[in-house]
Amino acid sequence: MYTLDDAERFEVGEVHDLYRRYVNKSQVSLMTSFGFGRELVAHAEGAHLTLTDGRRILDVTGGVGVLNHGHNHPRILAVRERFARERRMEVHKTYFSPYLAALGHNLAEVLPGDLSMSFLPNSGAEAVEGAVKLAFKYHNGKRRTVLRADRAFHGKLLGSGGLTGQAQFAFPTIPGIDTFTYNDLASVRRAVATHPGDVYAILIEPFSASTIEACSEEFLRGLRELCDREKIVLIFDEIYTGWGKTGTLFHFMRYPGLLPDVLTTSKSFGGGKSSISAFVAREPVFRKAYDNLGDALLQSTSTTYYGFGEECATALEAVNIAIEDDYPARARAIGAVLEPGLRRLAKEHPDTVARVDGAGALWGVFIDGGPRILDLVAKLAPGGMARDPRFKTKLVTCAVISALYQDHGIFAYYTLNGRNPLIIGPSLITEPADVERTVDALGTVLDEGLGRLVTRFVKQKVASQW
Ligand SMILES: Cc1ncc(COP(=O)(O)O)c(C=O)c1O
Repeated sequence: MYTLDDAERFEVGEVHDLYRRYVNKSQVSLMTSFGFGRELVAHAEGAHLTLTDGRRILDVTGGVGVLNHGHNHPRILAVRERFARERRMEVHKTYFSPYLAALGHNLAEVLPGDLSMSFLPNSGAEAVEGAVKLAFKYHNGKRRTVLRADRAFHGKLLGSGGLTGQAQFAFPTIPGIDTFTYNDLASVRRAVATHPGDVYAILIEPFSASTIEACSEEFLRGLRELCDREKIVLIFDEIYTGWGKTGTLFHFMRYPGLLPDVLTTSKSFGGGKSSISAFVAREPVFRKAYDNLGDALLQSTSTTYYGFGEECATALEAVNIAIEDDYPARARAIGAVLEPGLRRLAKEHPDTVARVDGAGALWGVFIDGGPRILDLVAKLAPGGMARDPRFKTKLVTCAVISALYQDHGIFAYYTLNGRNPLIIGPSLITEPADVERTVDALGTVLDEGLGRLVTRFVKQKVASQW
């Protein structure tokens, strides 16, 4: 048996071998295409990673939504150390939890209107499914249709995966899912009219982090009106965008008076340490669904793991930090550097950058083009990759990400959804100088040209023999 000491002494090759044998061999093959798949992280602090060879990397992924507070925020660490030192209790639900109680209060305090009743599972997918389940229960099973947008990411469980609904989600899912076009009210109206009196919920991301698209104010307010008229439970999924990321505490909060019936959150809610999510319902909606003795225990999405002590204590601190340190303002300050910088790059590289879009500290750079020879490369790509109509875009975007990492020590990512933008989404503790450095480095990488970047990327992949 390996010990923790053994694990911490592994070389990267040993870790790859163990992944090949016990996790997924193809995952090793895929991720070792990038520098970061061929290295291990020794430490993580703030916006930086330190590799086992001592190299320092600027992490502008923002942990894909998890790290608004950065890595290992000192206040988050202190809470967890204190929890362990004082031997607090994690598990039993038959004793009431002061942490859960305080967290519920704080959520109600910072959210607008009567969004005040919360439940605290572990993952985003669970929060989404909990919200949809609540909506179904609100209508007592008398309605059977739930509407989702064509551009969405809501998770990968059987239910949330079906609600995400990408073509590649070839699994059974919950019944009654129908689709409307993102940000198109006429399309929602048509979908509702197709199922008269039968729609129990509409699920939408006001800002879609996986495609970098935002709903207009007019669309969101129209959705609210429609849901009020038709008594449909409106669910906003802000699992990624919560806690300041796009420049307001939650994206929808930039529109005064606008309220969903249920809001989902996760990721930075756990301060980068705690695996916790929440769905928060408006009080009357929650009460009608679950507030009676017979149904009081039905709202949970998992019987064992929800509302654990240390997870709630961590989230309590994470929320306090986001409010005290004004994370929305920090996101806006980061955006004030990113937006003009990235727009300038798009102007300077019209054949490479199709567009840039985003809000606050979450921006997408849509890379496209590249020499015609790449079409041939895409056609000859191994396995199922050649059948992917977006393979060329993914290839050129990966080549840019790889060069940013290797030449400049900057770690970015791209999304597998929509038009596969390269994402610059720094943690909200990132220094403005580091944000500027990221824009400059991306400019230098793009100056090299997509043809050369792809050649380098492919050569390295071949040479690394992974
Ligand atoms: C908007 C949104 N909803 C749901 C999820 C699913 O969360 P999880 O991966 O924790 O299941 C994600 C994850 O990226 C997300 O961005």
